[in-house]
Amino acid sequence: MSYATASWLSLGEGSTPLVHAPRLTESLGVEVFLKCDGLNPTGSFKDRGMAVAVERAAARGARAVVCASTGNTAASAATYAARAGLEAVVLTPQGATATAKRAQAHAAGARVLEVRGSFDDALRLCRELAQHDGYVLVNSLNPDRIDGQKSVVAEILEQLGRAPDAIALPYGGGGNVSAVAAGCLEAGIEPSLVVGQAAERNTTFASAIRIGEPAHRANVEAMIAAGRVRAVTLSDDELRSAWIRLGREEGVFCEPASAAGVAALTTLRLDGGTAVAIVTGHGLKDAGAVDASAAQVVEPSLEAVLEALR
Ligand code: F0G
Repeated sequence: MSYATASWLSLGEGSTPLVHAPRLTESLGVEVFLKCDGLNPTGSFKDRGMAVAVERAAARGARAVVCASTGNTAASAATYAARAGLEAVVLTPQGATATAKRAQAHAAGARVLEVRGSFDDALRLCRELAQHDGYVLVNSLNPDRIDGQKSVVAEILEQLGRAPDAIALPYGGGGNVSAVAAGCLEAGIEPSLVVGQAAERNTTFASAIRIGEPAHRANVEAMIAAGRVRAVTLSDDELRSAWIRLGREEGVFCEPASAAGVAALTTLRLDGGTAVAIVTGHGLKDAGAVDASAAQVVEPSLEAVLEALR
C-alpha cells in the first residue's frame, strides 16, 4: 500500500523500507528496526509533509513558498515547488549547510539566500516574509507539514504488523516529534517516544539539527511533562558513534543528525520490547562528514594490493 497523500504533486514519497537491525538489537537489548526515511525522493523525511504543504499552498493560490533550513527542508521545498510551478525562496544559515543539500535547492531552481546568521535568524526572517502577500511558509510551523509527515506512523504499524513499544527519532526543531505524536494519536497507539537532541544545539557537527531555539519546544516539553516523550541529550561523541555504527554494523548510511534516534536508544537502554528508530536523512546528503582520508593509493599491481592489505 502506498501512503502518498499528494496526488498530482507526488514523487513517490513515503513507503520507505523498515529494516531489522540485528547488531543493534544484540547490543541494546531491545529489538531494533530502522525506518529508512532517507530513501524518500529528495533523501529525507521532509518530503512526506512537504508534498502535502506545497500542494495545499498551490491550491490556495500561493505565488511562492518560503522556508528557513539547515538544508533538507530547503531541498524538499525547492523540489516540490518546482513541480507545482511555484517559486521557492529558501533562507539558510551561511556556511552551515551541507553542499549536496544546497545543490538540490539550486538544481530545482530555488532562490537561495544565505543569511549571515543562524537557522533561528533565518526562521525569524521567513516568518516575517510570509506576512507578505502570496508567500506561504512551509516550515513545520505550517500544520500541513505535520499533517503529511505523520504518515510515517501508519507505515510503521503496517510494516511491523503491530505497534512498537518505542519510536526513536531526532529532536531538532521538534516538528517531527510533533508529527509522530500526532500520527500515534490518530492510530490509537501509545509507544514511548524517545527523542535525541544535541547537547550543543548551536554548534553540533550534525548540521541538520543545528537549531538553538526549537520552534516546537513548548509542545515537546508539554509531552515530556505528560510522560509521552523521553528526551535524551546527546554529546557530539555519542551522536558520532551511533552514526558510524549504523554504517559499519547495519549498512545504513545516514547523515549524522539522522542517527540521533539510535544514539538516544543507546544512551537510554530500554528494557526489552521493540523499538523503531526513524533514520531521517540519507548519508549522501552530508558525505563531507565522512572521513574518507583513510583510502590508500597503490600501484596497479597485485603485489602492491596484497602489500597494502597486509
Ligand atoms: N533529521 C534531519 C536529517 C533533519 O534535516 C532534521 C531537520 C531533523 C532530523 C530534525 O527534525 O526539526 O522536525 O525536529 N532539518 C530541518 C531542515 C531543520 O531545515 O532541514 P525536526
